[in-house]
Amino acid sequence: MSNKKEYKRITVKSLVEMKTTGEKISMLTAYDYTMAKIVDGAGVDIILVGDSASNVMAGHETTLPITLDQMIYHASSVVRAINRSLVVVDLPFGTYQSDPKEALRSAIRIMKESGGHAVKLEGGKEIKDSIKKILNAGIPVMGHLGLTPQSIYKFGTYTVRAKEEEEAEQLLKDAKMLERIGCFAIVLEKIPAKLAKQVAESVSIPVIGIGAGADVDGQVLVLHDMIGMTHEFNPRFLRRYMNLFETMTESIGQYVSDVKSSAFPNAEEQY
Ligand code: KIV
Repeated sequence: MSNKKEYKRITVKSLVEMKTTGEKISMLTAYDYTMAKIVDGAGVDIILVGDSASNVMAGHETTLPITLDQMIYHASSVVRAINRSLVVVDLPFGTYQSDPKEALRSAIRIMKESGGHAVKLEGGKEIKDSIKKILNAGIPVMGHLGLTPQSIYKFGTYTVRAKEEEEAEQLLKDAKMLERIGCFAIVLEKIPAKLAKQVAESVSIPVIGIGAGADVDGQVLVLHDMIGMTHEFNPRFLRRYMNLFETMTESIGQYVSDVKSSAFPNAEEQY
């Protein structure tokens, strides 16, 4: 017997319930209407409008350049597509780090202009006041610890975080703090599986991992990586469920050759 309950709509409350009953939480990114419709229809619990749109959609090397207006554009396209999933939207770099009032203004713009259901912010104690300010306005917040790509120039590399005891201890403290101040969930990115398990066991809110092992409450991947549209990014944690890069390249190549040879369109494909 499965412990999977049917949820008509996923809310932050459903997610905490899933942790309590032991049902794992599925989360994927999406940045546009058409993809979000497929992801929502396939039963994914949380759609993350990630600032990874900066890489995947816009071709930037890092997540830093994407703007609040661009995130709102992506998020509103996703929101128009969904029936069931909870939509979480990343606050982009530079829109919440300088002071709590600016953080709240950015979060309010996301909620009002995109219709998203929650926001995600990267970091621990250094952004505590910003998170509290957003939570006080009634906006649900998801935390993000471990490898936080908006800090790539501080880290200097996308390698596994918190392997050393000092960083691991701070991460655990930050996770407990995020729970205490009222975050509804935490993403843990690219940290040792043993530490992720310890965090998931230490907090009552769901912990969603990416490169954080199996002993957490759910998993998240970047959609375009998971369906194999991107093919140059090959971290160990990534499982590709399709090779869409190859399939699309073949199909588009076939189209080009059909056009060149006049095999397309045929008599049935015209008026
Ligand atoms: O922006 C993003 O896609 C993310 C996930 C990797 C968790 O933050």
